[in-house]
Amino acid sequence: MSEKTRVAILISGRGSNMAALIAAAKEKDYPAEIALVVSNRPEAEGLKTAQARGIQTAVLDHKQAGSREAFDGALHQLLVQQNIQLICLAGFMRLLTPGFVMSWEGRIINIHPSLLPAFKGIDAHAQTLAAGVKITGCTVHIVEPEMDSGPILAQAAVPVLPGDTEETLAARVLQAEHRLYPMALWLYLTGQAFPSDETDMLISA
Ligand code: GRF
Repeated sequence: MSEKTRVAILISGRGSNMAALIAAAKEKDYPAEIALVVSNRPEAEGLKTAQARGIQTAVLDHKQAGSREAFDGALHQLLVQQNIQLICLAGFMRLLTPGFVMSWEGRIINIHPSLLPAFKGIDAHAQTLAAGVKITGCTVHIVEPEMDSGPILAQAAVPVLPGDTEETLAARVLQAEHRLYPMALWLYLTGQAFPSDETDMLISA
């Protein structure tokens, strides 16, 4: 049996963070293997990227699912079938039900393009510019049922520059995301993200 943690990445679109995780996991000593990429949108660009890198993909179209519970039920079944141990959300644009999150407690992580707890939600960069802050960044955190909440694993700071638009700021933050997410996953899986060993227990459960 492989010693590497079997990770599924959930996407809805471009999948550039997914690609960064896949690249990191190719390293011999990286503690995770990307075993599966799942998209809730059949047209997600990231699916092609994953396939081109030889990663197994699956589509669970939320429009066909009926209800949120049915979607999450099908997702749970797929992940269990594939022996997935940890889920990385990477631009996955759906809220997961509290039941799903609780059954994967401590085993779902997410990246958000702000320094949480500031600027939760889908328009983080617009909120950042509206607030006039000079430093923003990105956060990798454990997922709890409430959106963009949960223990923080790692953060990176990024300057907001004069004249920034949502697009220029998003592009700068995205570069930091691509470095942060693989590092945060590594820190978590090697027990270095928290001072206590509480989460190691969750991961190996
Ligand atoms: C990233 O900015 C991520 O932080 C946010 O959605 C975006 C997804 O980009 N949750 P990509 O699909 O990883 O390229």
